[in-house]
Amino acid sequence: MKLEVEAVNHVCLIVKDLAVAEKFYVDFLGLERHHKASTWYVLGEHSTLHLVEIPEVEVDDSLYHKLQHLALQVPDLRSVFRTLLEGGKEPFQLNEDQPKILTDVNDPLDVGNGSVYTYDPDGNLVEFLQFGRGKFTEDMKPRPSYLHRSP
Ligand SMILES: [Fe+2]
Repeated sequence: MKLEVEAVNHVCLIVKDLAVAEKFYVDFLGLERHHKASTWYVLGEHSTLHLVEIPEVEVDDSLYHKLQHLALQVPDLRSVFRTLLEGGKEPFQLNEDQPKILTDVNDPLDVGNGSVYTYDPDGNLVEFLQFGRGKFTEDMKPRPSYLHRSP
């Protein structure tokens, strides 16, 4: 069998307090709530973010938790960067897993793979990337062979 994946449908993140997480994902980043499913949020045309509230979960600062992440492809990385900076979310870039905190709105955003990162209120790493910047050149886009089958 060769699994044909159409899209990443959703990513599920565990949060301690849904209201606090929504302040970040909805009020601050501006994610739209799913029209049918509460605690699901729209990520583009094909994907959603599902937040599951488990108050007793402890946020740990293990490398596993610090590096496992959600990566969001955006059309304008600089605009997201500005929003994070102005919102006091301490955006950073990663150079061989070493964070470089960014404080200047005119920063070239050229460290490491060119992505900008921040943490959500539960310590989940969120990456923002834009195609055409840094490592994310056009040829980094996935090319599933089953989309290119001859008839
Ligand atoms: Fe990543």
